[in-house]
This record gives sequence, structure tokens and C-alpha cells, in this order.
Amino acid sequence: MYPKTVAEIRNAYLSYFKSKNHVHVSSSSLIPAGDPSLLFTTAGMVQFKPLFTGAVELPYTRATSSQKCLRTTDLERVGKTERHCTFFEMLGNFSFGDYFKKEAIEYALDFSVNHLGFPVDKIWISVYEDDDEAIELWVKAGIPRERIVRLGKADNFWGPAGETGACGPCSELYFDRGIEKGFEGCGNKASCKPGCDCDRFLEYWNLVFNQFDQDKTGKLNPLKQTGIDTGSGLERIALLIQNVDSVYDTDELKKIIQSIETLSGVSYTKNNAASFRVLTDHARAVCFAISDGIYPDRTGRGYVIRRLIRRASLYARKIGLKETFFYKLIPVIAEIYQNSYPELKVKEAQVCSIVLAEEKLFLNTLELGLDQLENILQTYLAKKETVFKGVDSFRLYSTFGFPPEMTKELLEERGMVFDEKSFQEELEKDRAIARDSWKGKKESLLTGIESPSITVFTGYHSFSGTSEINLIFKDSNLVNSLQAGEQGVLVTKETPFYAEGGGQVGDTGYIKTNTALFKVTDTQKENDTFLHIGEVLKGEFTPGTEVELEIDSNRRNLLAYHHSGTHLLNGALRSILGTHVMQKASLVSSEHLRFDFSHPNALSTKELEQIEEKVNEAIQTGVEVVTTVLPIAEAKAKGAVAAFDEKYGDKVRVVEMDTFSLELCGGCHVKNTRDIQYFLITKESSPGAGNRRIEAVCGPPVISYFQEAFQALEEEIQALNMQVNELKTPVSELMIRKNAPGPEEVEKLFLSKGAGAVKELRILKAHLSEQLETNKQALFKEKKKQQNLENRDLLSRSDELNQKAIEVKKVRVIQEIFEGEIPLDALKQLADKIKNTGKPTLILFALKTSSNLTLLYMCNKEATKEGVQCNQLLKDTAPIASGRGGGKPEMAQGSAKDADKIQDVFQEVLNILKK
Ligand code: SER
Repeated sequence: MYPKTVAEIRNAYLSYFKSKNHVHVSSSSLIPAGDPSLLFTTAGMVQFKPLFTGAVELPYTRATSSQKCLRTTDLERVGKTERHCTFFEMLGNFSFGDYFKKEAIEYALDFSVNHLGFPVDKIWISVYEDDDEAIELWVKAGIPRERIVRLGKADNFWGPAGETGACGPCSELYFDRGIEKGFEGCGNKASCKPGCDCDRFLEYWNLVFNQFDQDKTGKLNPLKQTGIDTGSGLERIALLIQNVDSVYDTDELKKIIQSIETLSGVSYTKNNAASFRVLTDHARAVCFAISDGIYPDRTGRGYVIRRLIRRASLYARKIGLKETFFYKLIPVIAEIYQNSYPELKVKEAQVCSIVLAEEKLFLNTLELGLDQLENILQTYLAKKETVFKGVDSFRLYSTFGFPPEMTKELLEERGMVFDEKSFQEELEKDRAIARDSWKGKKESLLTGIESPSITVFTGYHSFSGTSEINLIFKDSNLVNSLQAGEQGVLVTKETPFYAEGGGQVGDTGYIKTNTALFKVTDTQKENDTFLHIGEVLKGEFTPGTEVELEIDSNRRNLLAYHHSGTHLLNGALRSILGTHVMQKASLVSSEHLRFDFSHPNALSTKELEQIEEKVNEAIQTGVEVVTTVLPIAEAKAKGAVAAFDEKYGDKVRVVEMDTFSLELCGGCHVKNTRDIQYFLITKESSPGAGNRRIEAVCGPPVISYFQEAFQALEEEIQALNMQVNELKTPVSELMIRKNAPGPEEVEKLFLSKGAGAVKELRILKAHLSEQLETNKQALFKEKKKQQNLENRDLLSRSDELNQKAIEVKKVRVIQEIFEGEIPLDALKQLADKIKNTGKPTLILFALKTSSNLTLLYMCNKEATKEGVQCNQLLKDTAPIASGRGGGKPEMAQGSAKDADKIQDVFQEVLNILKK
């Protein structure tokens, strides 16, 4: 019985390789460990990169895995083809200095034919163009020569994942799906072969023969041990076995497609397949990514997730789903994958709410942005222009939230070109403006206005609400209307938008009616009047209009974590350092918190640890955050702490967190301290005499902080281990055996221990950093020691070289070519020793390293008296090896490109001397 379903195929693959003595290694996180140059885990080999290059000790020499992967290179093609996905599972078998080409080829063919049941005559092979060895091995294994094709570097050379690492030529297995699968005029031709972009030959397995380690300069250095890295798309195999047209018709993905049908009431047809595929793929990618701790964000990994959610919204709209819908697919994914990836179920509710909030926010402007795009396109068409300018694409991005890549895709559908350069220029301009932001130069809007209204703030408990517009300002003047395209300020009677105050920054979001939309980019307040600052994107606003107000809730949640975290920090400082601690200033943003307070000395590491632990204890204890409004005297009598120079009214709001904190505060807080999740101090410094400053993060950003910190540490550990390995005589005690925890370990620890994980990881991080520092220093000493020994060896060669001297017209000439990493100073010392003979002596040294060729000519005074001039000689001869250089008559130095011409260079020196 051959496997049929995706789950059965996954099992069969892993079992097969386990039976061939491979260790089954679980999938690693979508965040690659120890490789900041790589945004996502893009292949099964990513978690094994250090094992291939020898940067860590080998725990095993054979491994197999089913790895979750995310690739964005073909993101725009997802939906449009039958086989592209961003998220997929890659099956792989790996050898680290164990078996090589022969076995890799035999395993792949045996598994394909005898365990998947693929008819051998349907299998085609591609190999790297000059890999004759691979061809012979395939022939021996049973594939006739005529079904083996040679392909070039673009197809059959696997470059490293990320900037550096293992790579090499590869060989791919293709399944011939039959002539009818080819495009017109391609598959119908007998000449169609693997490598053609049609659907006839489906590549289902890539075998990489790792031989090189690419360094940062792009150079390929031979690997100490060869290796095997194979990768096979699980869904592609399923497609072949289940004999369906598209990966989206394989059993697991089909379940998602069917759920979309049920949830939306729209049937899946050929015409709307693209939308179903995009929703299916992107929901899977987003669900797995957020569960791995990648949250939608403005940059980096988080930006890709935001992009996927927005692209999914666009494609949902194409099948008539204009309301929030995408988030409904998260539980579907969690259900389907609950056995293989139980973490999805654990995080389901959180992921759902994050996706819903993102989706909601974007849906405010999607329709409008599309209209805007259409209008702009009409003006381009009228002028017969096809290059879409940066000012336009930037506006779609900054105002309507259109990721530039999405705009590009929409433009391509219309035969237009996205001008990348001018878009980047606009982006840079905008950053510059943001840098010298006008924030701070607040003018009064309300002076002169009779009885300016007091806004009722409703946002402590709700993120949205309805109210009526009271006042409208444009250019600081009271106006009766604000229209599309105009910037201004809206004042409403009630609002859920928090206005900047008490250190917490203002909310952002939207104010809308059925016909009009206002984007709120900041909220400020003047006395008790809340000012929604932003731009009208659609329609018109007039006083008296009933509006809906809706804040960016994901951002607000982060603000609440950081604000409540600030209170706990203040409480912990007062309980550990003393009640002299007074808040001097504070900043609460969605990314971090900054708290300035009075205290005479820098805090010791121990004090910082105690403070952090105290806050995390309050989080773990999980106490209710209780707010009450009291007369100020009563609040003070209760012991509520007030900020140093804050003004308070007669009645004050008191925020109480059991015994951990009691403060006067008007800000936004979590309901229970447990909601803050985690707290981590990231920095302690002084903002000025007598005061100290603590910076910290709360909530999910703590996880990202550790993931990034360990990623950077792991990279350093690997670099150190490589350097140890590269020593002439490696001292293995200098290697660091312990890996920094990978992103999934960090994530798991937080899941199981909550805030308790902070301490554990902080200690581990300090320990690894310290060990790294110690080992780096020891390595430095060891290098010096080995270098000195080598230099001694080098100097001891002076007699031997002296004996090799040849005499040309009274001048003794000594020539030698050195190889390897020898310091030039050592060569100069050697030359000094040799030339100290009293006889005219000229020394010609060349030093070949992996990256260049250095020429060094030296002579003594006796030689210069005979007319020898090193600088002139070098000038005359270096060009023979495409080199140049200069110096003085007694010593000249240069470099050259053609290392193999070095003998000719030296010969020319002799010729010149002879003349
Ligand atoms: N690294 C190769 C690939 O991703 C084989 O696993 O195709």
C-alpha cells in the first residue's frame, strides 16, 4: 500500500529515512536561528546550516525532517498558478560528512519508485551541467541517459539560504505528468524537457550535493566535509499521488478551500480559483507565522505578515467578501494541523484576534485605495503614460495602507510599470519629515472659542463607538466642513481614542460615516477637548454629523501592556529602592516603555534583576487592575502615588494593582496584570544628574527581543567556532558547545513558563555572552601564540633560503612563493634576516592567500650600490601578473591578480638585472 494523504506521505518519508539510520529532527521555527541575514526559514536545511559548515559539533551525521517553510520570492504568483505557495512543508534527508551523491541518488529513486509507487519511466532527472558523475550514478541506479538533462547554474546550483553557508550543485527529480499538461506549443512538442516552465514536468525533489561554504564576499570555499541536503515539497508529492491538477486540490489544502466555501457561501470555480488559493495559502502562512511569534508590523518579518493579510483582503474582495472574513480561517488551519503542529491550537484565539484587528483596519481603506488607484490610472491612460510614479504609489501606501508590492501586482494586471526608484525616494522624504516632526510645537486651537466642548472618553473599555461631530479645524481655523484630501482636526462629543497624556502616546484609527472616512494619525487634547488629527480620505465631514469611531486595537493593546508595565515598574522601584523614587517622566509606546525617576545612583545588576523579577511576579500572580474615581484627598490618604509635576483635578482616577501598585493615572490599562504577559528591562541609564532611566518591553515584544538576541549570539558563537576550526592547530576547548536557544525554544519556554521565562532566559543570555567573550579572548591569545610559533618557523628558514640564492651580475637573488595567512611583517623580518650578509642581495617574495597575491621586493644597501632599485623593478614587472605597487629603492610592495604568472614576474626581474 502506497501512502495517499499528506499525513501518510509525511509519515512514509520520515519512516523510510529513519529506517536508513536518519535521526528524525522536528521542524524548527519559521524564524531561522542564528542567521539574521535570513528573514524566514525557507528550506529544511536552514536549521542544519551550522552542521554543514562545521560551526558546531555534530550530534548526528544523518537527519530527516518535515520542515515548515515560508518563501516570499514567488508571492505574487501565488493564486495564479497551480503549484505556488508561500507556506509549505519540505521533506528532507540530510548527511553531514556521512553519505554523498551515490546514496542520496539511490535513496531518492528507491523511495520514489518503491515507497511512493511512482512508475520509473515517468521520472526525469536534471543535473548540474558539468556533473558527469551524477549522470553516471543515475544511469547505474536505473534512469536511462535520455531522461537525464543538464541544466545551468540558475536551475541546478543551490546557493546558500541567506548570505552565507553550505551550497553546491544539485540534481532534481521530475515527474512527467504527460504531454497534455504542457502549454500550447510547448508540452505538445516532443522536445519539452525538465527546465521548461510549463506544467508537464513537475519538479518534486531537489538533491543538493553540498561542497562549498559561501562566505560574505560571495566566494565559494570548499567545505571541510561534503554533505547532502535534499528537499521535497510535501504537497507536490501529494499532487502527484492524488493525481489532481493543483497543490490546492490535495487533501489538506482542499479542506481549507472547502471551509472557505462553507464560510463564505461562494463556490470554488475555475474563474475564482485565484482568490481561493490566495486565501488558503496566506491563511496557512499567517497562522503558522503568528503562532511562531511573528506579529504584523511596519518592518521586517512582521511586514511580510501584514502584507499577506492585506493581499488576502484584496483577493477576498474579488469574490465579493467585503467584510472581515480572513480571520475565520485561523481556526480551520489550527484544526487541520492540530496533530502535527499542536502549537497552533494553543495560540488560536490570540492569532484570530490579531488577524481580525489587522483585517478590520485595512478594510477601512481597501475599497477607497482601489478607487484612488483607478482614478490615477485614468489620468495615466489619458496621457498614454505607463510608468506609475513614486508620489502616487507612495500615497497609496502611506494613506491607504497598500503595500508597494501589492500595488505593483495590481499595476502589472493593468500593463503598468511600478517605478521603484521614485517610490523609495518618496519613502526617504517621508522619513526625513518624520524625523523633524512638528510634534511639540502645539498651538492652541481652542482659544477664542466659546465654551469648547468637553469630550467624554469612552475608550477605557471599548475600542469603538458612535458620536457626533462637534468642531472641525483646518489650518488651526474653525471650519464648517472638511473634505476629501484635506487635513485637519475633528472633535467629537465622545471618543474611544486616547489622547496623548501621562506618557502614553495618542491612539490612531478611523472616524467614518457611510459616505465619509477620516484617518486619525494622532490624538491630542487641549484641556478636556480631544483632538483627532488626520486626513479626510473620502467624503465630507460637517459639525453635527453622527460618526463611528474605531481605534487600531492591536496597537492599543500593546500600549496598555506597556502602560500597566510602567505602573508595576514604578511599584517595584519603590519597594526595592525606597519610597524616595518619584516618577520624573515616562513614555509609553506600543514598542517599549521609558521611565525616568529620582534616584541618586546607577542601579546594580542585582537591583535590576530584583526589580524585573518583582514585576514579573506581579504579572504571574495575576491581580485585577481596579480603577476608581476618588476625591484627591482620599486617593492620597490611601497612599496613591502621583507623578512628580502632573496637575490633578479635584477628583482623580486611581489605578490599583493589589499590593503591587497604586497610582493616580488617566491612562489605558490591562484588566488583569496577567495580560501584560512578560516584562523585560532592556536598558538602564541616566537622563541627568539625580535621575535614572529604565527602558523595558512588555508582552510579545519580549519574546521577539530574546529571539533576536539569541539569534545574534548564535551567529557569533558559530563564527567563533569556525575560527577555532580554522586555526592551524584547532584547540577544541575553545569551541562553544552549547547552542543559543532557537526561536521555537524561546517561544515554547514563554508558552510553558509565562513571565517566569524572562529570568531563565536572561540568565542564559548573560551566561552565553560571558562565555563568548572569554572564549573570544582566549582565541585571540591562541591565534597570537600559533602565529608566533609560525613566525619562528618562518625565521628559521633563512639559512635554507640563503642557500637557494642565485647570482646575477654580482647580486645574489633569492626568490620564494609563500602560501596562506602569513603576516607581511613576518616576511619582512625574514627578509631582514636573510639580507644581512654584507653581499649585494635582492629578495623577491610573493604571498598567495585565498583572496589575493602580494609582491614584496627587498634588498640591502650593497645591492642598491650595484644599481638595484626595488620600486623600479616592481613597477616594471608587476604588470605581467596584472599587478602594481611602489615603495623605495630598498623595499617595495604591491599586489597582483594573476597568481599563476608569478614565475614570469620573477623571471623578468632576472632579465632586467642581467641587462
Ligand atoms: N535546499 C534545497 C532546496 O530548498 C534542498 O533542500 O531546494
